[in-house]
Amino acid sequence: MSQRFALTSISFLFFFLPFGQTAAQTQDQCLSCHEAIEDNHAALFKKDIHHAKGLSCADCHGGDSSKEEMEAAMDPKAGFIGVPKGDRISATCAKCHSNTAIMVKKFNSVLPLDQMELLTTSVHGNVSTSGKEHIAQCTSCHGAHGIVPKTNRSSPVHSLNLPSTCAKCHANASFMRTYNPGLPIDQLEKYWTSVHGKRNRNGDPKTAECASCHGSHEILSAKDPRSQVYPTKLPVTCAKCHSDANYMRGYGIDSDQFEQYAQSVHGQALLEKKDLGAPACNDCHGNHGAAPPGVESVSKVCGTCHALNAELFSASPHKKAFDARKLPECETCHGNHEIVAAKDELLGVGEGAVCAWCHKENSNVKGYQVARMMRSLADSLIAQEETAIMLVDDAEQKGMEVGEAKFKLREIRQARLETRTKVHSFNLDQFSEVATRGFETATTVEAEATDAIDQYFFRRWGLLIASLIITILAVALYIYIRRIEKQQALNR
Ligand code: HEC
Ligand code: HEC
Ligand code: HEC
Ligand code: HEC
Ligand code: HEC
Ligand code: HEC
Ligand code: HEC
Ligand code: HEC
Ligand code: HEC
Ligand code: HEC
Ligand code: HEC
Repeated sequence: MSQRFALTSISFLFFFLPFGQTAAQTQDQCLSCHEAIEDNHAALFKKDIHHAKGLSCADCHGGDSSKEEMEAAMDPKAGFIGVPKGDRISATCAKCHSNTAIMVKKFNSVLPLDQMELLTTSVHGNVSTSGKEHIAQCTSCHGAHGIVPKTNRSSPVHSLNLPSTCAKCHANASFMRTYNPGLPIDQLEKYWTSVHGKRNRNGDPKTAECASCHGSHEILSAKDPRSQVYPTKLPVTCAKCHSDANYMRGYGIDSDQFEQYAQSVHGQALLEKKDLGAPACNDCHGNHGAAPPGVESVSKVCGTCHALNAELFSASPHKKAFDARKLPECETCHGNHEIVAAKDELLGVGEGAVCAWCHKENSNVKGYQVARMMRSLADSLIAQEETAIMLVDDAEQKGMEVGEAKFKLREIRQARLETRTKVHSFNLDQFSEVATRGFETATTVEAEATDAIDQYFFRRWGLLIASLIITILAVALYIYIRRIEKQQALNR
C-alpha cells in the first residue's frame, strides 16, 4: 500500500514537468551536449520513438533542456532527478503511458494505457528479493534509450527478439534461483527445439514466441487459473493462431485442430467437465519443446496417461509391423485431435471397425480372424452381462436377497472394460482370458439369481400348500368339534 502511494506521488511530481515543449521550440541542449561528449545514450536516443515525437532527455530525467550550461541544465532545482532507479523507472514511463491527457490529447496516441496497471498485478509485479522494488521495470523488456514500436526489427519486444529478452532473466540460473528455486530455467533452450522456435530463429515472426502464449504486461504464474496458459484456457490461446485460416495460410497445415479437439473425448473432459486430468494441447505437444519432457516424440505421448494400453501395444505384433511402416502407435486407429470415446464398433471386421482397414478376408488373414473372434467374444460378453443384470433385477424385485450377486455384476463389468484395454495386446489368448473370467462370473451370477427366483416360487407354493393344509385341518377340526358337540347333546 505504502509502495503504491510512493509511486503515485512520484508520478504526480512528474506531471508538472514541462515535457515536449523544448525540443519543438528550442534545441534539446541535453542531447546536443551529450552527443558532443559521445554519450552512447544520446546516439541511441536519436533513433528513439520519443525523440521522433519531439520529446527530450529532460522528459524522463528532468532538468532544463533549454540551458546550454551543464550545471544549469542538470540542476535539481530545475527538476533534474539524475538516473531513476527501482520503481521510479516504471513510474517515469507511466506518468505518460497511463495518462490519457498526455497520450491521447497531446499526442493523439491510440496505444493502450494499461501497461503499468497490468504490470503491477502480474507475476513480475511481485516484490523483488531486495524487498524495495518490483521484479521487472518497463526497461527490463523495452530498454531505456532507443525505444521503438514493437513492429520495428530492433525493438527488444519484436517477435524475433523477445525470446532472448525474456531469457535475459529466465535463463539466468543465479538470478532466478534467488526468487523461485523451483522454477525451471530451460524455457529458451527448449523453445529452440520446437517448430515455433526453429522458425523464429530462421526469421519467421508469425510463429508463437513467449508473449503469444503468456501475454506481455499481464503475465501470470502458469498455475494461476486466470493465466492464458492454464490448462482450461490454453487451447483457446493456441487457437488464436491455429484456428485462423488466414493467418495460417501458406504453412500447409490445417486450421481445424481446436475445432476437432473441442469435440473430442479429451476436449469435452477438459473444457466442459473441467477435468484437469485430460490433456490440453501442451500435454501432447509440450510447453516449450517439440514434445513434452521425457517423451521422444508427440506420437508416443498417449502412453504417459494411458500406460496400460501403451504397454500392451509395445508387446504386441503391431509394434514391429507399425514401426516398419512408420505408422504412429495410437493415432493410426484413434486419430489425434478428433479422438472419440472408444466403442465396440471399432473392433472387428464390420463397417466402422478399424481392424478391417488393414485386415481382410484374403490379406493379413490372421489379424482378420482374431479381430472377428474378439468382436464376437465382446458381443457375447455384453449379451451375457445383460442377461445377468436382468435376472438379478428380477430377483431383487421379488424381494430376494441378492447383495452378493449384485457385487459380482461389478466384476463382470470390470472384465468387460478390461477386454477393451486387452484389445491392444492384439492377441486372442490374452483377450479370451479376461473375457472368460467375465463369462464365468456371469454364469455364477445367473445361477445365483435363478436360484433366488426359484426359491421365491418355492416359498410361494409352500405357503399356498401350508395354508391349504391349515384350512383343511381347521375344517376337519370344526367338523370334529361339531360332531363331539352333537354327541354330547345326544348323551345328555
Ligand atoms: C553541457 C553539457 C551537458 C548538458 C547541457 C547536459 N549534460 Fe547531462 N551530463 C553531462 C556530463 C559531462 C555528464 C557526466 C557527468 C558525471 O558523470 O558526473 C552528464 C551526466 C548526465 C546523466 C547521468 C547522471 C548520473 O548520475 O550518472 C544524466 C541522466 C544526464 N546527464 C542527463 C541530462 C539531461 C536530462 C540534460 C538536459 C536537461 C543534460 N544531461 C544536459 C553533460 C551535459
Ligand atoms: C523515455 C525516458 C528516457 C529518456 C527520454 C532518456 N532517458 Fe536516460 N535513462 C532512462 C532510464 C529509465 C534510465 C535508467 C535505466 C536503467 O537503469 O536501465 C536512464 C539512464 C540514463 C543514464 C545512466 C546510464 C547508466 O548506465 O547508468 C544516462 C547517462 C542517461 N540516461 C542519459 C540520457 C540522455 C543523455 C538522454 C537524452 C539523449 C536520455 N537519457 C533520455 C530514461 C530515459
Ligand atoms: C515482461 C516484459 C515487459 C515489461 C516489463 C513491459 N513491457 Fe511493454 N511490452 C512488452 C511486450 C512483449 C510488448 C509487445 C506486446 C504485443 O506484441 O502484444 C509490449 C508492448 C508495449 C507497448 C505497445 C503496446 C501496444 O499494444 O502496441 C507499450 C506502449 C509498452 N509496452 C509500454 C510499457 C510500459 C510503460 C511498461 C512499464 C509500465 C512496460 N511496457 C513493461 C513487454 C513488456
Ligand atoms: C513524456 C511522455 C513519455 C514518457 C515519460 C515515456 N513515453 Fe513512451 N511514448 C510516449 C509517446 C508520446 C509515444 C508515441 C505514442 C504513439 O506513437 O502513439 C511513446 C511510445 C512508446 C513506445 C512505442 C509503442 C509502440 O509500439 O508504438 C514504447 C515501447 C514506449 N513508449 C515505452 C516507454 C518506456 C519504457 C518509457 C520509460 C522508460 C516511456 N515510454 C516513457 C510518451 C512517453
Ligand atoms: C527482470 C527479469 C525478468 C524478465 C525480463 C522477465 N521475467 Fe518472467 N519472471 C521473472 C521472475 C524473477 C519470476 C518469478 C516471480 C515469482 O515467482 O515471484 C518470473 C515469473 C514468470 C512467469 C511465471 C512462472 C510461474 O509459473 O510461476 C512467467 C510465465 C514469466 N515470468 C514469463 C516471462 C516472459 C514471457 C517474459 C518476457 C516477455 C519474462 N517473463 C520476462 C523475471 C523476469
Ligand atoms: C507455445 C506456447 C508457449 C510459448 C511460445 C512459451 N511458453 Fe512458457 N509456458 C507455456 C505453457 C503451456 C506453460 C506451462 C503451463 C503448465 O505448467 O501447465 C509454460 C510455462 C512457463 C513458465 C513456468 C515454468 C515452466 O517452465 O513451466 C515460464 C517461466 C515460462 N513458460 C516462460 C517462457 C519463456 C521465457 C518463453 C519464451 C522463450 C516461453 N515461456 C514461451 C507455453 C508457452
Ligand atoms: C502466434 C501464433 C501461434 C500461436 C499462439 C501458436 N502457434 Fe503453433 N504455430 C504457429 C505457426 C505460424 C506455425 C508454423 C506452421 C508450420 O511450420 O507448419 C506453428 C507450428 C506449430 C506446430 C508444428 C506444426 C507442424 O508443421 O508440424 C505445432 C505442433 C504447434 N504449432 C502447436 C501449437 C500449440 C500447442 C500452441 C499453444 C500452446 C501453439 N502452437 C500456439 C503459430 C502459432
Ligand atoms: C492427445 C494429444 C494431442 C492433443 C490434446 C493435441 N494434439 Fe495436436 N497433434 C497430436 C499428434 C499426435 C499430432 C501429429 C504429430 C506428428 O505426427 O508428429 C498432432 C499434430 C498437430 C499439428 C500439426 C498439424 C496437424 O494438424 O497435423 C498442430 C498444428 C497441432 N497438433 C496443434 C494442436 C493444438 C492447437 C491443440 C489444442 C487445441 C492440439 N494440437 C492438441 C496430438 C495432440
Ligand atoms: C494428459 C493425459 C492424457 C493424454 C496425454 C492422453 N489422454 Fe486419452 N484420455 C485421458 C483422460 C483423462 C480420458 C478420459 C476422458 C473422459 O472421458 O472423461 C481420456 C480418454 C481417452 C479415450 C476414450 C476412452 C474411453 O473409455 O472411451 C481414448 C480412446 C483416448 N483417451 C486415447 C488417447 C490417445 C490416442 C492419446 C494420444 C494421442 C491420448 N489419449 C492422450 C487422458 C489423456
Ligand atoms: C489397431 C488399432 C488400435 C491401435 C493401434 C490402438 N487402439 Fe486403442 N482401441 C482400439 C479399439 C478397437 C478400441 C475399442 C475396444 C472396444 O471398445 O471394444 C480401443 C480402445 C481404446 C481405449 C478405451 C478402452 C480403455 O482401454 O480404456 C483407450 C484409452 C485406447 N484405446 C488407447 C489407445 C492407446 C493409448 C494406444 C496407443 C498405445 C492405442 N489405443 C492404440 C484400437 C486401437
Ligand atoms: C494400420 C493397419 C492395421 C490395423 C488398423 C490393424 N492391423 Fe493388425 N496388423 C497389421 C500388420 C501390418 C500386421 C503384421 C502382419 C504381418 O506381418 O504379416 C498386423 C498383425 C496383426 C496380428 C498378428 C497376426 C500374425 O500374423 O500373428 C493380429 C492378431 C492383428 N494384427 C490384429 C488386429 C486387430 C484385432 C485389429 C483391430 C483392433 C488390427 N489388427 C488392426 C496392420 C493393422
